[in-house]
Amino acid sequence: MASLTIRKLDEAIKAELRLRAARHGRSVEDEVRVILRQAAEGPAAPAPSSHPTPAAHRSRPTSTTTNSVTLIIGGGIAAYKALDLIRRLKERHMDVRCVLTRAAQQFVTPLAASALSHERCYTDLFDAGSEFDAGHIRLARDCDLIVVAPATADLMAKTAQGHADDLASAILLATNKPILLAPAMNPLMWNNPATRRNVAQLIRDGIVTIGPNAGEMAEAGEAGVGRMAEPTEIAIAAERILRPPQAQPLAGQRVLITAGPTHEPIDPVRYIANRSSGKQGFAIAAAAQAAGADVTLVSGPVDLDDPVGVNVKHVESAREMLAQVEAALPTDIAIFAAAVADWRVASEGTQKLKKTGAGIPPLQLTENPDILATISKLRDNRPPLVIGFAAETEHLIDNAKAKFARKGCDWIVANDVSPATGVMGGDRNTVHLLTREADGTVNVESWPVMTKDEVATTLIERIASHVKDTST
Ligand code: CTP
Repeated sequence: MASLTIRKLDEAIKAELRLRAARHGRSVEDEVRVILRQAAEGPAAPAPSSHPTPAAHRSRPTSTTTNSVTLIIGGGIAAYKALDLIRRLKERHMDVRCVLTRAAQQFVTPLAASALSHERCYTDLFDAGSEFDAGHIRLARDCDLIVVAPATADLMAKTAQGHADDLASAILLATNKPILLAPAMNPLMWNNPATRRNVAQLIRDGIVTIGPNAGEMAEAGEAGVGRMAEPTEIAIAAERILRPPQAQPLAGQRVLITAGPTHEPIDPVRYIANRSSGKQGFAIAAAAQAAGADVTLVSGPVDLDDPVGVNVKHVESAREMLAQVEAALPTDIAIFAAAVADWRVASEGTQKLKKTGAGIPPLQLTENPDILATISKLRDNRPPLVIGFAAETEHLIDNAKAKFARKGCDWIVANDVSPATGVMGGDRNTVHLLTREADGTVNVESWPVMTKDEVATTLIERIASHVKDTST
C-alpha cells in the first residue's frame, strides 16, 4: 500500500488542508482520510486546493524546493543549539521533524522543539500514537535526510554497532536516507580510541560528519576539540547533501535587481506607498544567486528576509533607490522589478502636517526619476542586458509594448496586477516575456501561471542561455 506524505504536498494544498482541518475540528491527517474516503465513495469529493498548479510545473524543482529532515537531538549540553538549528534548517526551506532522546529531554523540551518545528515531536519507540503504523519506519524513511545534532559518543557507538533499543537508534538503523552527524562531546571522549573507531566505522558506512569544532567546553576550564559545529554550519552541510551544488551558469556575472515598493514621504510620519510585496524581485535575487551570480538587490521597504548570499541595499524612496542603483554599476545584468512610485510630494514637510482649521492641505506632486529609463539610456556603464517589468491592470500586452518602446530596455516582463489576479502580495504570477527580434519586431512569450519562485527560476534560466549565446 502506498503511503502519502502530507509534508511533501504543494504549499498551497497544505495551507488549504490546514484550513479545512481547522474548520472541521480534525487533524490534518484525519482531514486527508475524509477527503480520500469521499473520493473513493463518489464523484463529489471536494478538491483540496482552490489553486490548481499546472501539471507541467507541479514538480519542477526550484531554488526553494522544500526538503524534509528528521532531526535527532541527542543528550548533551549542545542540545540547546539544536533549537536554533531547527530555525536555520527551516529558513533553508526544510521541513523539520524532531526526535528527542531520553537524555536530550534533560536539556530541551519536546514542547520547545515542536513549537519551533511546527510539527509533533517524537520521543518514544513504543508510542501507541505513532507506532500503530510503524512510526519509527516513517520517521526513518519519509524524509530526505536525517541529521543528528548533537551526536553524542553513546549515540554514535550505538549507530556504529547497529543497536535499535530506542527511537533514535531504531531510526538510524532503519533508514535508507543520508545521515549527517554533528558530534559534540568532551575532548577526552572525542579522542578516546573507542570513539575514534566508531567514527571511522560510521564514515566507512557512508555517514557524513560535521565538526566537532575546537573551543571552550561547557565544563569550566576545559578546551579542545569537541564543541558541536554551529547551527548555520550544520544547516549549510545539510543543504549541500540535499541540494548538491548545481551548474552555475551565471558564475562571474554581476546582477543588479530592484524590488519592492518605494515610500515617498509627505512629512516625517506619513508617506505615499503601493501594494508591492517585493516577493518577485526577492525570488529573482535568490535564483540569480543560486545560479552563481554576484547579486546586489536594492529593495524598498518590504517584510521579507534578505536572501542568503545576496548583497542587499535597503532604501525608502525612489531617489534613494536610483542612488543605490547607480552606485552598484557597472553590472552585467540589471532587472528592475521594483514598483517605484511615479510621483513624490514636491515639498516634503519637515514637521508633521497639522490640522490647522485652514482646510485640507494641498499635496503638490512632482515626478520621480524613472530608474529603468535612466539606466537603459546610459551611454557609459549601461548593463549589457537591462530587463524591466510592466505592471498593468488593463490592455496588458499593448501597454507593455508601449512601455517597452518608451523605456529603452532589452526585455520586459509584463504582468497583470489588477486586484482579481492576486499578484500584488500573492505567491503566484502570470507573466509574458517581451523580447526584440533582430529586425526590431517584438516577440511575446506567454508563460503559464507559476509561483513567483518558478517565474524567477525560469527568468534566470532564460538570462543564462542569453548570456551563453551572446558570449560565444
Ligand atoms: N520603474 C522605474 N522607475 C520609476 C517607475 C518605474 O525604474 N520611477 C520601472 C519599474 O521597476 C518597472 C518598469 O519601470 O521595471 C515599469 O514600471 P511600471 O510601474 O509598470 O510603469 P511606469 O513606468 O510607472 O508607468 P505607468 O505607471 O504609466 O504604468
